Amino acid sequence: MKDLAGLVAQQKDIAAGIRVLTEEFPGAVAFSTSFGQEDQVLADIIWRNQLPVRVFTLDTGRLFQETYDLMDLTLARYKQHFEVYFPETSAVEALVKEKGANSFYESVDNRKECCYIRKVVPLNRALHGTKVWITGLRAEQSENRQDMPALEWDESRQLWKYNPLIQWTYEDMIAYLKENNVPYNKLHDKGFISIGCAPCTRAIEPGEHPRAGRWWWETSKKECGLHSS
Ligand code: ADX
Ligand code: SF4
Repeated sequence: MKDLAGLVAQQKDIAAGIRVLTEEFPGAVAFSTSFGQEDQVLADIIWRNQLPVRVFTLDTGRLFQETYDLMDLTLARYKQHFEVYFPETSAVEALVKEKGANSFYESVDNRKECCYIRKVVPLNRALHGTKVWITGLRAEQSENRQDMPALEWDESRQLWKYNPLIQWTYEDMIAYLKENNVPYNKLHDKGFISIGCAPCTRAIEPGEHPRAGRWWWETSKKECGLHSS
C-alpha cells in the first residue's frame, strides 16, 4: 500500500500536500471551515491555488453575527462557493420543545446533545462520500490534539483526516493572515480566540488558555464531538 502520509509530508508546502490528496481521491476531498483563523488560512491556500476541494461550513443556527459577516466578507473576497449545512429542523424543534432554548447550560449531557444535533449530525451528512477531510486543527489548541498526526486514518468515519496546520503555532497563523491580508472575524479584536456558537463562547483574559472561552462554565474536556469518535 502507498505511504500516503509519507508522500504528503514530502511536499514542499500545504498546497502541494492537498494536491497529492486530490489526485489520489478525485472529487472526494472536503474542507470544513468554522471561519476561525486557522480555517481562513486554509481557505486562502485552497482558493488561491484553485485546489479542487469542496468547502463547507456547519451553521448551527446559534453563530455570532460577526461570523455571518465574515462569511459574506470571505465570499466577496474570494468569490468562491462554500456549502452551508444546517441541522435537521425536526431534531432542533424537538430539542427546544422538550428542553428549551438554552438547555446546554444545564448539564454536560445536554450540551453534548445540542452539539450532536447542531454539529455532529450535519457533519456526518456533509462528509458523506468524502475520502479526505481537511480540518484546521492545531496541536497547541488542546491536550487531546497534541498527538494528532498531520494525516491520519479515521477508523470511525472510514476516511483520511488531514490536519495541515497541526504543527503551526499561533504566531505562524497570525503571520500568514497578516502577510496575505486574509479577512478575519472582528471578534478576534475583542479578546476572542477560539470561536464557536454565540451562547457557548466568551472572550478570554490575557494569560488564559486560548480555548478557555469555549463552554466556559464546564470543567470537563472542551470538545463537541466533531473530533472525537
Ligand atoms: S470544536 O470541535 O472545538 O468545535 P474547533 O472550533 O476547535 O472545533 O475547530 C477545529 C476544526 O473543526 C476547524 O478547523 C474546522 O475544520 C472544524 N469545525 C469546527 N466547527 C466547525 C463548523 N461550525 N463548521 C465547519 N467546520 C467546523
Ligand atoms: Fe449547541 Fe453550544 Fe454546541 Fe453550539 S456549541 S451546538 S449552541 S451546545
